[in-house]
Amino acid sequence: MTSPAALKPNPYFPIAQLQCETDTGIDTIPLALEQSFPSWQTSIPERYTKMDAEELSRRIRGARATLGDKVVILGHHYQREDIIQFADDRGDSFALAQYAASHPEAPYIVFCGVHFMAEAADILAAPHQQVILPNIEAGCSMADMANDADVNQAWRELGELYGGTDDIIPVTYMNSAASLKAFCGRNGGVVCTSSNAAKVLEWAFERGKRVFFFPDQHLGRNTGASMGIPLDEMVLWNWRRPAGSLGGASEEDLLRARIILWQGHCSVHQRFSLTQIEDARAKYPGVQIVVHPECRYEVVQAADANGSTAYIAKYVANAAPGSIIGIGTEINLVARLAKENPDKTIFCLDPVVCPCSTMYRVHPAYLAWVMESLVDGVVVNQIKVPDEVRKDARVALERMLALK
Ligand code: 13P
Ligand code: SF4
Repeated sequence: MTSPAALKPNPYFPIAQLQCETDTGIDTIPLALEQSFPSWQTSIPERYTKMDAEELSRRIRGARATLGDKVVILGHHYQREDIIQFADDRGDSFALAQYAASHPEAPYIVFCGVHFMAEAADILAAPHQQVILPNIEAGCSMADMANDADVNQAWRELGELYGGTDDIIPVTYMNSAASLKAFCGRNGGVVCTSSNAAKVLEWAFERGKRVFFFPDQHLGRNTGASMGIPLDEMVLWNWRRPAGSLGGASEEDLLRARIILWQGHCSVHQRFSLTQIEDARAKYPGVQIVVHPECRYEVVQAADANGSTAYIAKYVANAAPGSIIGIGTEINLVARLAKENPDKTIFCLDPVVCPCSTMYRVHPAYLAWVMESLVDGVVVNQIKVPDEVRKDARVALERMLALK
């Protein structure tokens, strides 16, 4: 189904051939018209599925006014405009985790982002606070690439090869399940985000000889490379290979490795390519290219700068008027930066624009539903990390937050 939004020219793509080709666009249409709604959370009262963007905004605003400071709404940079307009605080995953750890005031935190972010907020929030994820199906395909069984299996195999695990520091990217953060907490490891990965790896190398990094191979490789670690000392662990096969790596490679990289990736960021950067540079001499470190190594190498979503937003805000900037990250953020910086030419490097399909699941219908439920005294979609996981996961998160 092609929505009317997809047929409108997209003002955020000044390079003609780099047009948005999503089949729904990024404007809000009623939930019932979203092609993917059947695979999202369908347990939402039907009336919300028929409301248009305007009615949903009115309802969210009304519920907000009634709830006052009982609720805080957090919004990740990849959330759509119709959600981000309600965010009390917006940021990258590090800033939002920090916010949750340091604002015990509101009893309810409505987290407009994805599941692993809401879990981290729940782990760091005060015990009396309840964290709510508007659409329970808003996960992260990268986080889903690492599960407990596979990580534990890899850890055992690495321990056998190296004669123990004392010298291996596990580092999990924030984009992972709470149980894997707990794994790191239990095993002398830590969490990192895209805004502090180098600092975290330095911390890890002060404590061990090798780092076991999951689930994003690209962030691990890009960070290692930025610290001067040669590519052949960063070895890929393919978790799809049978148990006992060392993730498809050779013993020799693993004995040389300083970083063992989990073979995970983000499907949005893996789309960015060297060709797109070359095209942009040919079309716009003087263009600046800034990308997220979840992009492939060669893309990050060819860019002028790379960093977290907050870094990218700051990079654009600080650029001189008239700057032309090609960005390698999710389209909702790029579109917002273009709108907020009308004195600059901002465009997305990817011609086939891919909103993060799971961030996109936080449709305003869900936000209206969870907010109006709170007005009625009902908490829906609470994210509650079990106590036995929370304790160790908090250790790993606090190690990260303590790094200056
Ligand atoms: P940031 O921490 O940079 O906000 O990234 C989160 C994310 O999921 C990027 O894909
Ligand atoms: Fe996960 Fe990629 Fe979406 Fe970020 S952009 S939440 S890594 S799928």
